[in-house]
Amino acid sequence: IGKSIIHKESTTSTQHIAHDEARNGAAHGTIIIADEQTNGKGRMNRSWFSTKGKGMWLSIILRPKISPLQAPQLTLLTATVLADVLHSYCNVQPLIKWPNDILLHDKKIVGILTEMQAEQDIINYIVIGIGLNVNQSKDDLPEEISHRATSLLIETEKEHSIKALIQEILTTFEKSYDQYIKNGFPEIKQKWESYGFKIGEEITIKTLKDHFRAIFLGIEEDGALRIKRMDGSIEKLYSAEIDWFEK
Ligand code: BTN
Repeated sequence: IGKSIIHKESTTSTQHIAHDEARNGAAHGTIIIADEQTNGKGRMNRSWFSTKGKGMWLSIILRPKISPLQAPQLTLLTATVLADVLHSYCNVQPLIKWPNDILLHDKKIVGILTEMQAEQDIINYIVIGIGLNVNQSKDDLPEEISHRATSLLIETEKEHSIKALIQEILTTFEKSYDQYIKNGFPEIKQKWESYGFKIGEEITIKTLKDHFRAIFLGIEEDGALRIKRMDGSIEKLYSAEIDWFEK
C-alpha cells in the first residue's frame, strides 16, 4: 500500500483520478492524494468540502481477491484504521457511526466512500476514498455543515501535519489489510464494535422507504447492520442510515 503515490495540487475528485488510473491498470495499493478537490464526492451523491491544504483527501486503489459481497468489510476495515490512528496518534476518542463515518463528540470528522468495479463475482478494483478534516477552524467549515462537522484542529486546539497523518494511516492500513487477508473479518468486526456509536442503544434508522426506531445490536459477518425492531424481530440491513441528529 502506498508504493505508488500520485499527488495532485488540485483536482476535481481523487475518486475520479483513481477510477481512471485503475482502468488503466494501476497496481493494487496505488494512492491518489490531492491538496484540494473542486468536486469532492460524498456518499449518496452528496458533495464533500475539500478546502485547499485543510484536510486529507485521499483515495486508495485495491485489487483484493475477495467476493464483491465482502467488499463492505473493507469499508469497515478502513473506518477502524482511521479510528485507531485518531485514537493512538492524535489522542482523541473516536466513535464509528455505521457504516463508516467517524465522529468526535458527535460531530463528523472522517467520511469514507467505497466504489467498486466488479463483473459477476469478480472484483476488478475497489477505490476507497477517505476525507479527514484536519486543520479547518470553525470558520473554515461551511455554514450548512458546521453544526455536525468538526476537524482535528477544532478538537485538539492545535494544527496537525497532513503528511505525517497520511504516513500513519497508510502504515496502519497496510497492517490491518494484511491481517484481514490472513485472518478474515472477525478481528476487524470486534475492533469495529469496540468503536461502534450507539451499539446497544435505541436509534432511528432511515431507509429509502421509511424510518423507524430499533435497537442497534452490532454488525454482521458481512458488515451489515444488525438491529432489533420494536416488535422483537431481528433484521440485517445493508443500505440504511442511522439518523444521528435526533432527539
Ligand atoms: C461521506 O462521508 O459521504 C464520504 C466522503 C468521502 C470523501 C473523500 S475525500 C477523498 C475522496 N475523494 C472524493 O471525492 N471523496 C472521497
